[in-house]
Amino acid sequence: MDSINPFISGEQIAVRLQEMGKRITADYQGRDLLIVGVLKGTFMVMADLARQIKLPTQFDYMAVSSYGAATKTSGVVRVLKDLEQEIAGRHVLICEDIVDSGLTLNYLMKSLRVRGPASLEIAALLFKEGIQRVPVDVKYVGFRIGPEFVVGYGLDYDGKYRNLPYVGILSQS
Ligand code: IMP
Repeated sequence: MDSINPFISGEQIAVRLQEMGKRITADYQGRDLLIVGVLKGTFMVMADLARQIKLPTQFDYMAVSSYGAATKTSGVVRVLKDLEQEIAGRHVLICEDIVDSGLTLNYLMKSLRVRGPASLEIAALLFKEGIQRVPVDVKYVGFRIGPEFVVGYGLDYDGKYRNLPYVGILSQS
C-alpha cells in the first residue's frame, strides 16, 4: 500500500512561488515572455507561478515522457507533443515540476536552443540535489530536495496523486 508523508506544505509552496514570480518579473522587465510548460506534471506549478508574474506573458506546452510506472528514470525522453509556436527571437522560460536526472531538461534545452530563442531559462519547483546525470542549469529553483520520490502538486506516481495540494514523500510497503 502507498503512504504519503507531507513534506512541503501548500502554504510553503505559495510563498516560494510568489518570491520566484517577483524575481522573474524583475528579470524580464520590458520583455515579452513565453512560458513553456512541460506536461503533464507542471500544470499546477505553472498556473500558480504564472499568476505571480506581472508581465505580458504567453504560454505554450510540450509533453514528454521519461517515466512509465516506475520511480527510477529510464534515460529515454520521448516527445509526445511539440510546441505550437515559433520561439526564434523570443524570451523563453521553461517551467518544470521537478529536476531529477536532468535528462528531460537537458534534452529539451538542446532541442529548443537550436530554434534560436533570444533567451532560454528554466524554472522548476523542485530540484533533486546532486543526482543529475547530465548538467542542467536551472535559474529559478523553488526547493532543493534529496533523492526521495515525491508526489503531489502535479507530480504523480503511476498517474496518481497529481491533485494533492502539497508535496509528499511516497513510501510503499
Ligand atoms: P529527469 O529527466 O530525470 O530530470 O525527470 C524529469 C521528470 O521525471 C519529471 O518531470 C517528472 O515527471 C519525473 N520525476 C522525477 N522525479 C520524480 C519524483 O520524485 N516524483 C514524481 N515524478 C518524478
